[in-house]
Formats: sequence, C-alpha cells, structure tokens
Amino acid sequence: MDSQAFDWHWARAALEWQLEMGADEAIGEMPVDRFAAEAEAQAARAAPVPATPQRSAPVKEVLPDPVEVAGDAAAGAKTLEDLRLAMGAFELCDLKRGARNLVFSDGTPEARVMIVGEAPGRDEDLEGRPFVGRAGQLLDRMLGAVGLSRADSVYITNVMPWRPPQNRDPRPEEIAMMKPFLERHVALVNPDVLVIMGNISCDALLGRRGITRLRGTWAEAEGRPSLPMFHPAYLLRNASAKRDAWADMLALSARLKAGR
Ligand code: URA
Repeated sequence: MDSQAFDWHWARAALEWQLEMGADEAIGEMPVDRFAAEAEAQAARAAPVPATPQRSAPVKEVLPDPVEVAGDAAAGAKTLEDLRLAMGAFELCDLKRGARNLVFSDGTPEARVMIVGEAPGRDEDLEGRPFVGRAGQLLDRMLGAVGLSRADSVYITNVMPWRPPQNRDPRPEEIAMMKPFLERHVALVNPDVLVIMGNISCDALLGRRGITRLRGTWAEAEGRPSLPMFHPAYLLRNASAKRDAWADMLALSARLKAGR
C-alpha cells in the first residue's frame, strides 16, 4: 500500500469516525485543536490569580459650605478695601456670573449712618455704585431734606453686591451666603445707626419681613439701633407712602441730633 492510498483511507476512516461522533458539518476553514485549547485553559486556571488592584472607594466630592467660606473670607478682612477684595474673589454666589460689576458701597466710611439696600439694579450694575438709578436719586433727595448726604454723612451698601437677573429678589441661600460679608461690612464701618431699606434688607438683618409693619420702629441689628424704612423704589411706585418715609427721615434725624 502506497502512502497516498494510506492517507486516503486513513482520512476517510477519520471522517467516518467524526460523522459517527456527530461532527457532520464543517464550521470553519481551519481545524481547531480543542485538546490544546482545553490544556491551555486548564493551565490558566491552575496559575496563581494575580492580585486584583485595590479599588479605592469612589471619592465623594465634598462641596464647600458657601456660608462658611464667606465667613472665613469676611473674618480675614481688616479694612474695607480687604473686604471689597474678598467679596470680589468670592466665587460661590452664582449672581456674580451674570453681573457686570461688584457693587460694594458709596458714601463716607466715617459716617454715623449706614444705609443697607437690597441689591443693585441695572444702573448700579453698570456703574458699580449702589443707588445711582431713579431710586437712588430719590434717596439722595430724602437724605438732603434732613441735611444728610453721601458726600459727608452717609455710607451706603446693599445686602447683595451683584445684580440678580431681571432684578428678581435674591434667594434665601444667596442672602445667607452674603450675610457674613454684610456683617463684617457693618463692623468695619461701625456706624451709630443702620437704616434698613426694604424687605430683603429686613430679612437679612432682622430675620423678618413685613416692611409695612416694621417701618418706623427702631429695632436692633448688628448690635446697634436700626430703622427699617420703605425702599425708595417702593416710594416711586406708591407716592402715598412718602408721608411715612418722611416721618422716618425725621425720626432718623432726631436720633442723630440726640447723639444716640
Ligand atoms: N435698589 C437697591 O436696593 N439698591 C441699589 O443699589 C439700587 C436699587
């Protein structure tokens, strides 16, 4: 028997055996040595398992508490200029992103009277000074009527140093995060009296709203006598409230004259 005949018979016998075993269909071009594959798999199973790299627990991002950050920044301010810089560097209040300017203050830092307004409007945002729009002009006339002015006897700031979008009311969390700056502002100016204009300012400094009830009654805020008053913007819309505002200006003047 030549080797060719042997190969032919051997191959046929092998094929028949495979058919008998159920392998009746060719599924690949190349033969696969399942014994070798199984031997490889066995070797892999026997090999020592490499140490799984230790997965550290997912790091949970801890966001800073804006009120705490503001408190630390404000406490570090030793002068009004320090405070202005600290407020300018405070990044946790979203209002900053929509504002053109930080509106810090205007007037005389040595004044006995410190007025606290609510938040800058469009004109204030453009100029970077509080109360320069129509409400501010009315405020100047009210002050002038009792012999006061920004030039020599009044210091003015706001609860919020950035203009809220569409002049919306500042949100409670925004007021809370800017309050440490306001408190430090009052402490650095150290006025004899505060004038608290409008509901937002009453909320920030007295923890209460309801300006119609609060106005005209001396209260204490930041450890000093404080007079809640109607906001000049409200007076522009409600001329009849000017009578009360005039009474409040007289009360302010009387208190200053009495030296208390
Ligand atoms: N209203 C405020 O309360 N503050 C300003 O600076 C301007 C308008």
